[in-house]
Amino acid sequence: MSAKAVTIAQQKGGAGKTTIAAQLAVAFATAGKRVGLVDIDPQGSLAAWFEVRKALVDGQGGGVTLLQASGWRLTTELDRLRRDLDIIVIDSPPHAETDVRIAVRAADLILVPMQPSPMDLWATQPTLDMAKKEKSAALMVFNRTPARGKLVDAVRRKIREAEMPMANTVLGNRVAFAMSMMEGKGVVESNPRHIAAKEIRALAEEISAKLKMD
Ligand SMILES: Nc1ncnc2c1ncn2[C@@H]1O[C@H](COP(=O)(O)OP(=O)(O)OP(=O)(O)O)[C@@H](O)[C@H]1O
Ligand SMILES: [Mg+2]
Repeated sequence: MSAKAVTIAQQKGGAGKTTIAAQLAVAFATAGKRVGLVDIDPQGSLAAWFEVRKALVDGQGGGVTLLQASGWRLTTELDRLRRDLDIIVIDSPPHAETDVRIAVRAADLILVPMQPSPMDLWATQPTLDMAKKEKSAALMVFNRTPARGKLVDAVRRKIREAEMPMANTVLGNRVAFAMSMMEGKGVVESNPRHIAAKEIRALAEEISAKLKMD
């Protein structure tokens, strides 16, 4: 069996790509999957988290394998990784670089995090267009969602009207995500009963179902 690949992409900076990549990887690993993480962002934030994880968790990746790759190596390295794993999560930088295009093309699903706001909705369109052009399925997900609010409902309505692909799972505005990462962990490890852990598990399950993994 060849691993499925999910690329997390969003041209808007700070939408939560790296946070969700790490959190999802740990959620998949905790659910018993063999997980690869790929950092194609030259900022290397995901790789930095992984270093902390190695140092503080088990001297290795705590059930997660990390690959830093770019350029022409990306496609061949991804093919190699696919052979031994169940799922690969790729974190991408906030620009439409060639590497992002390669990662979008290679993936089975493009996960597009966005805050529920009009600015984020408009900023999401180029990423959806790229997914379409590269013939990859896309799924938008609300991140840093306020507990309640008319704005969330209004943005959701717009997305529904436009028939854009939207995840049922919503990620709240939760400090627990960043807190767990400070220790090189995911929230499902550091605080498994927390609402943030429930949310990220639900997102992992939704993605598994979409990719027909179980
Ligand atoms: N669900 C959330 N709740 C609270 N804070 C969050 C959440 N998701 C992300 N953040 C915070 O938002 C900030 C940006 O997150 P992150 O670095 O993951 O975004 P990014 O899309 O990877 O950014 P970049 O475009 O620079 O790569 C970080 O401080 C992170 O801790
Ligand atoms: Mg990032």
